[in-house]
Amino acid sequence: MLTYWHLALLLLYAVRTALAIGQQSCATFSPSPQTFSIVSNGKATPILLSADDWPGVQRAAFDFASDIQAVAGVKPSLRNVTANSTLNIPLAIVVGTLGKSSLVDQVVSHAKLDVSSIQGSWEAFIAREVKNPLPGVESAYVVIGADKRGSIFALYDHSEQFGQSPWNWWADVPANKHSEVFVLSSGCSHGSPVVKYRGIFLNDEQPALQNWAMEKFTNGTGAPLTGSPFNHFFYTKLFELILRLKGNYLWPAIWSSAFAVDDPESQVLADWYGIVMGTSHEEPMMRSTPIEWNLFGQGAWNYTTNRQNVTEFWTVGAERAKNFENIFTLGMRGLGDLPLSPTMDIPGLEAVIAGQRQILSSVFNTSDVTNISQMWCLYKEVQGYYEAGMQVPDDVTLLWTDDNWGNIRRFPIVSERNRTGGAGIYYHVDYVGDPRDYKWITSSQVAKIWEQMSLAVDRNATRIWILNVGDLKPYEMSTEFFLTLGWNSSIWNRNNIDSFVNAWAKREFQLSATDTQEITELIFNVTRFNDRRKPELLNSTTYSLVNYREAENALDLLENMSKASARLYSSISPEKKAAFFQLVQHPIQATYTLANMWISAGINNLRASQARLSANNYANQTEALFDQDYDLEVEYHQLLNGKWDHMMDQTHVMYYYWQQPQANTLPLITKVQARKQALPGPMRVALENSLGAWPGDNPNDCAQGYSCPTPVITFDRFAPFGNVFIDIGAGGPNSFTFTATSNATWLKLSPSKGSISPQNPETRVFASVDWNEVPDLGYAQISLAAMATNQPMETQDIIFIANHTSVPSNFTGFVEGDGGISIEAAHASRNTTIDGITWAVLPNHGRISSAVSPFPRGGNEQNFTAGSGPSLEYDFYSFNTIQGNGNVSVTSFVSPTLNANGDDRPVGFAVSIDSGGPQTNYFIPAAIPGNLPDAWDGLDGFAANNIVYVNNTFSVAPGAHTLKIWMVEPTVILQKVVIDTGGVRPSYLGPPESIRL
Ligand SMILES: *[C@@H]1O[C@H](CO)[C@@H](O)[C@H](O)[C@H]1NC(C)=O
Repeated sequence: MLTYWHLALLLLYAVRTALAIGQQSCATFSPSPQTFSIVSNGKATPILLSADDWPGVQRAAFDFASDIQAVAGVKPSLRNVTANSTLNIPLAIVVGTLGKSSLVDQVVSHAKLDVSSIQGSWEAFIAREVKNPLPGVESAYVVIGADKRGSIFALYDHSEQFGQSPWNWWADVPANKHSEVFVLSSGCSHGSPVVKYRGIFLNDEQPALQNWAMEKFTNGTGAPLTGSPFNHFFYTKLFELILRLKGNYLWPAIWSSAFAVDDPESQVLADWYGIVMGTSHEEPMMRSTPIEWNLFGQGAWNYTTNRQNVTEFWTVGAERAKNFENIFTLGMRGLGDLPLSPTMDIPGLEAVIAGQRQILSSVFNTSDVTNISQMWCLYKEVQGYYEAGMQVPDDVTLLWTDDNWGNIRRFPIVSERNRTGGAGIYYHVDYVGDPRDYKWITSSQVAKIWEQMSLAVDRNATRIWILNVGDLKPYEMSTEFFLTLGWNSSIWNRNNIDSFVNAWAKREFQLSATDTQEITELIFNVTRFNDRRKPELLNSTTYSLVNYREAENALDLLENMSKASARLYSSISPEKKAAFFQLVQHPIQATYTLANMWISAGINNLRASQARLSANNYANQTEALFDQDYDLEVEYHQLLNGKWDHMMDQTHVMYYYWQQPQANTLPLITKVQARKQALPGPMRVALENSLGAWPGDNPNDCAQGYSCPTPVITFDRFAPFGNVFIDIGAGGPNSFTFTATSNATWLKLSPSKGSISPQNPETRVFASVDWNEVPDLGYAQISLAAMATNQPMETQDIIFIANHTSVPSNFTGFVEGDGGISIEAAHASRNTTIDGITWAVLPNHGRISSAVSPFPRGGNEQNFTAGSGPSLEYDFYSFNTIQGNGNVSVTSFVSPTLNANGDDRPVGFAVSIDSGGPQTNYFIPAAIPGNLPDAWDGLDGFAANNIVYVNNTFSVAPGAHTLKIWMVEPTVILQKVVIDTGGVRPSYLGPPESIRL
């Protein structure tokens, strides 16, 4: 089975046939004896349906015919026929649902088709050519669904392969035109999806989605009772998208909406389309809460004191939904998605659920409610009730949740995996809440979604997957990935996630392999950048402005991405521009603009504190970028004559607390008086790795802030950048020329002279060393001199110490440079395999290019005592210890994986150096059940940083050593290790990787 699927996946690349992501491919665009014509010679093969099939299948067949027309320019006819119809046609496409379409049942019996592979299988389908399927038809391509959605998914699956993207309407991806379309006679098939209910949750939908929908789907006033714009015109567009993505489940918008009240047609149409409706974790019994309760509820939202009224309220929800496909949310939270009152205890909540099942029993007139789909979502504090022993009936699906930041809080443990109701996952790519909202643009890595959700598959949480997609639009690809993974997780693994993004880019834009690969990398880079820290959490000093060239390097990468995207955008054909803008260009330019704006503001603040005139340029640049940020929003809104007006309404600049600001406001900037010279003279000198500036007093020059000693630059042989810089800048309006000289032949300064003026207010002088000429330790003096008209010469000396470190010629591994040793986790010297488990690379996961985690993870949750499990070894060479005290400090950068294997099995790993004993780290502190540890929250917490820094101290003499990382518990993800030998400075990402010999 696996090899077969891999083969199918390879076909996506090998053959210029159909492109459909993660599916078996059966469409082709040139005929052969093994193909069946859908469109050829300008003629479309007619589609035959049966009047007694599901109306939702009939409806999807209309889409299918329109898709064929969009691709091939000819629309096939659609006809209801019966076995008795007089037909005299050579070819037909027969579509229908097994056991429902009398036509399909007739074909099955007439042609003696074997349908056992799909019979009774949830959402499965087969399709293939059948000769003489019916009297009067020579040959037909027969598309058979095992049930309603099996037929619908079969049709949309073929549409996608023919060239119609699921995002044709929602992201304006044009159909990929082919004058002729064929299918392989052997056809396509699909068994039941891995995850039974695969859905999305529209949430946090104000301002963007709601304002947009108000303009596009109403005449300016929303629903009478709620003002909601989300009526059936809106929802039918959404239902179609969900089905095209092979999803089947929806939690509707709730902020000021009530799905079944806002437009009574919506609920009927959902069922007609084939969408299973639910309500969110906080809305029991198919009623929007608190909206509907506030409108119709009597008394307090309290099951203990107001049981009669609450019961009647829920009964209405059940009655109203009774005739449709639903999953009933059980349980109860406080109004407004808040915890229930502290007085709500376990027996109280058990009584709520018993009462709700009683309602189902009477509404559905059955004593057995176990066949009615029900779900209890263990969101936030609700999980605490469960962990404290609350009992829920076995047939109720337990919906586990993430921490709202993509880290699943708990997976079913072995003893929980055999419940008849199974388990599911509620996951987020958008969130409103602590430590700060993130709901502007795409910021989740697909490699991380894969890592968490594939673990959910391993641990049997496959009954329901629901993704909080916020306003939907900015998260097109992540949404598709989530649903695609749920459809068939078996074809995706840690090593082929890039092929998903590549296939997605190819399907949407149909560019050359090189350009498609470039888009793939752009998507990985932009989501990596935004997942390091959500755009909403950036500030002017997130990235270090002085250490490790961190801010500059971040900007360089973003600038390159911006240029690459702009080049593709300008060259892509006009009909694809709107799609490219929404899916690639906007997220990249918006990300670059915002980051550049924040970093410019930071540089402005720093330069001003250093009395440097160039601060003013950064002030102007910050303002320009603040405007450019809005220009990008306007450009999005003006696409296609305003089709997506308001979709980028989300504010995202300057937060005063966790909630969205009511307007974007300019980051704080300042200016230096440009007409007056700084007190020490026309020249300002600033050094890499320092916030200080010379000459003159500055608290960053030395601790006491005045009479500071001559500044010192220390530089060593293995510093990763190979040079260090000195900025010469204007300290006011007066132009000057400068010289930079040293008293050592081994020290090179480049440039060694220059001119500074208000028009050219700074020059960067790089210092580099010819190590062949330096003894163990080289001392030099750098002299800077500035000459301005009618002023005395201004000078500044700098002491330069060159540390000629060296390692034995036979050493291989990472070498200390610039104060420490920094190692990307994937770059181990060796690793070991124990019991078949080994630390394996997770490409595109985390802050840098990859991470490592023990694989296979399996379901058995195997663990090891420290020092006995699979290990990673990193050889390194050190020259120093912290303040010469014999110690080094090791910081492991681990992903914020939570204690999801149960309270008694916290995540952990161990670290050792050489043959010393391993130090074990359980890095997620225990928390009250249902809560997260304190260290998770806050602007410097695990969630905001999207990393946990784990520190260990070791006594290690300078020399060659081996650092070992040991598996203790499964699912730990290591991204990077930094060994501080005394000189590691503050930064967001840690020092760049050390030189490896
Ligand atoms: C087939 O019959 C159904 C049920 O009467 C109807 O809704 C549908 O429009 C018909 N389809 C065509 C193509 O005539």
